[in-house]
Amino acid sequence: MKLEEKAVIFDLDGVICFTDKYHYQAWKALADKLGIYFDEKINNRLRGVSRMASLEIILERADKTYTQEEKEAFAEEKNDNYKELLKNMKESDLSEEVKTTLEELRARGYLLAIGSSSKNTKFILGQLGLGDFFDAIADGTDITHSKPDPEVFLKAAEKLGMKPEDCAVVEDAKAGIEAAKAANMTALALDGDARDCGMQDYNLEGFFDLLNILPGAGE
Ligand code: BG6
Ligand code: MG
Repeated sequence: MKLEEKAVIFDLDGVICFTDKYHYQAWKALADKLGIYFDEKINNRLRGVSRMASLEIILERADKTYTQEEKEAFAEEKNDNYKELLKNMKESDLSEEVKTTLEELRARGYLLAIGSSSKNTKFILGQLGLGDFFDAIADGTDITHSKPDPEVFLKAAEKLGMKPEDCAVVEDAKAGIEAAKAANMTALALDGDARDCGMQDYNLEGFFDLLNILPGAGE
């Protein structure tokens, strides 16, 4: 398959970098404190989902209900813990595969953007040495509706000055593939969860596979 898109919008967590382990550790600490069962399988359901929606998933197993104020305090506590863990990320955590593929896509003339639900997007990109790399960033601070709503990808296309149908999206999460399709974009599935949903246009063999299906913008 060869695509004719002119721009590529990347999800961040699970696509550009692997923050799953940090999200897991930070949510686990909160769940343990509240006496709520939490494991890696439940953590998988949090992929692509906003911070507050993630908390609601964790609280499904709580045996009491919490006020909105308490929930906001829990989310803040988790995020403080998560941000401490993110300080361990460094430029060498960006894989060679991701780095060289991004550079080659740019050389082929594609516009490159981030479309992430995370409010920590800019901090994470900075840690990875990608603070100034992308042509546009749409993240959790720009949107009111998280994936599977298409808002974050539509916002990224708008910032790039591109029509949605000229954008391809790379996603590791089911919610992200749904969001890309709702935005009328081409959805490329990078990982299990995104592959299993059956709504994607193409399954990537790996990040490098983008170079096989994206021959050059405008060609
Ligand atoms: C997504 C992650 O990218 O960002 C989710 O896949 C996370 O797991 C969401 O909940 C929100 O992240 P943050 O950094 O704003 O808490
Ligand atoms: Mg993701």
